[in-house]
Amino acid sequence: MELFPEYAGWVRRNPPGKLLRQLGRTPLVEEAGRRIGALPVAELGSLTNESSFTATIAPLDSRHQWSLGTAEQLVLQALVSGRKVRTAFEIGTFNGGTTRLLAEAVPEDGQVVTLDLPPAAFDATQTPEGFTGTDVGRAYHDSPAAGKVKQLLENSLSFDPKPYEGQFDLVLVDGGHEYEHGMADTATALRLVAPGGIILWDDFEPYWHGLVRGICEAMQGRALHRLSGTSFGVYVQP
Ligand SMILES: C[S@@+](CC[C@H](N)C(=O)[O-])C[C@H]1O[C@@H](n2cnc3c(N)ncnc32)[C@H](O)[C@@H]1O
Repeated sequence: MELFPEYAGWVRRNPPGKLLRQLGRTPLVEEAGRRIGALPVAELGSLTNESSFTATIAPLDSRHQWSLGTAEQLVLQALVSGRKVRTAFEIGTFNGGTTRLLAEAVPEDGQVVTLDLPPAAFDATQTPEGFTGTDVGRAYHDSPAAGKVKQLLENSLSFDPKPYEGQFDLVLVDGGHEYEHGMADTATALRLVAPGGIILWDDFEPYWHGLVRGICEAMQGRALHRLSGTSFGVYVQP
């Protein structure tokens, strides 16, 4: 006989191991919150030279739980327009929904390079709902701007940015979400970004404490900011 049958469901959903793991996370999440809270805040208006712009709302069938947030997609397009971004590099293609928006936002002679894991490595390590490694990038393939996109299928942890060094007006870091990705992808972004270019990190939030720690450590001594009203971390290369 169960003593408190009304709580039986809750106990099943929250076994002791899960509760202990959650408790263990708490100080790490708090530390990430302190790191982020200590950073200066950049306003969108300080990062763009335009006060208005035209934007595209991502097609519904390109939206997924893993996609950049709708607000972040709009801010991204404001920055592409206001900073006259011609070249962009995205770490973390996923379904290609944001790749599509970038490609359509850069000018006719612009280019977007986007990087994600090869299909087999994707399927071995990633588990998004209703999506497999062969779907990576699919959402931009039928865009009229698809010709501006170069899709790379490589692990960002072993990616060599040398052929692309210093070439990108905008780098969007939205790949793996662990500490090692924060460190490695930030080091890569710093090599990819052109003088005067901008780097954005998505999910720069306490929940992703390992990612946040990696980014902050790799950005030590540089003017990393958080972008007001968004989940972006932001840096402008002098
Ligand atoms: C949050 S999703 C990216 C969402 C995408 N930027 C968008 O807005 O639609 C993160 C992506 O990073 C990729 N990723 C994770 N670890 C990676 C790695 N080591 N190298 C390359 N890509 C990686 C995942 O496969 C996944 O597609």
